[in-house]
Amino acid sequence: MANLKGRDLKGIADFSREEIQNTLEVSGLLKRELEIGRAHRLLEGKSLGGIFETPSTRTSISFETAMTQLGGHMLWLDEHRLWVGAAEEEDWPDTIKTIDRYLDGIAYRAIRRERLDLAAQVARIPLINASCPVEHPCQAFADAMTMIEKKGPLQKAKVAFLWGWRTANPPAGLTNSTMLMAGKLGFELVIACPPGFEPDLSIKAEADREASSSGGSIKIVHSYEEAVKGADFINVYSWVSPAVFAKGLETHFKGDPEFQAAKAKLKNDWCVTKKVVGQAKKDALVMHCMPISRNTEVTDEVLNSPASIIFDEAENRLHTEKAILALTMGGYR
Ligand code: CP
Repeated sequence: MANLKGRDLKGIADFSREEIQNTLEVSGLLKRELEIGRAHRLLEGKSLGGIFETPSTRTSISFETAMTQLGGHMLWLDEHRLWVGAAEEEDWPDTIKTIDRYLDGIAYRAIRRERLDLAAQVARIPLINASCPVEHPCQAFADAMTMIEKKGPLQKAKVAFLWGWRTANPPAGLTNSTMLMAGKLGFELVIACPPGFEPDLSIKAEADREASSSGGSIKIVHSYEEAVKGADFINVYSWVSPAVFAKGLETHFKGDPEFQAAKAKLKNDWCVTKKVVGQAKKDALVMHCMPISRNTEVTDEVLNSPASIIFDEAENRLHTEKAILALTMGGYR
């Protein structure tokens, strides 16, 4: 078993292939133990600080529940609790160095990647990325666990990762983490997005390097048809174009008029319908990290069909985060 004690998870590249596989195995073990009612209080007496700079349903609740089930505790550290965002704001490293003296780990959802990197740099305790604009590693772990549960090892699996239309787009963090996971675990990933929405090509290059030794592949195309043909899984997500993202947070969260006008033209062509799913394998399964913009990204017909595994995927956030916490915070060896 890999020893992850004391380690950060800022992104998928922080863990080796073996460490990712071990983490997924521990996730499965903890899930089965929970199902049979066997307690696993691996983090008894330990505290996790949860810093969330955006709203979160799945990540925040799964992390807090994970700590409870592991016998520990999660503290909510938002701007109302910390001297962050106040008129007299405390220096960010001072904040992190202080809470580092009380806590055993930090789960941080950051609006700015630089603040996450700085926090990880000054904290001695493990820091887990609970989503930032560059990566969403915990979601990629849950997605991998869900796919393995449904269809076994991923080496021969094809995953179509489809851009879906929505009014407000998040950054491409999950897309980037999924590329890196494809490289680590060796599955075929085909990303379909409109021209101009291609994810970070430097991260793709990193994922390609990993894929060269795992047997995986990562391809970016501009039509659903090419991506879904023969796919075992269809994972839908929506992300802002890197050009708009580069203009700054105000623009990419609230909407740049030029970008919105260009994006409006994509609305009818970039929604995953039953017809799109019908072009994949007969037993293809549909995923989405949620929250979903129903009937613009994916139709209700698809989301409510037996092919949809979105709630299994959401549940597995809990089991994978428990494994990540238990391994990095030293409860599981
Ligand atoms: N998938 C995901 O991260 O959901 P939340 O934003 O609700 O945490």
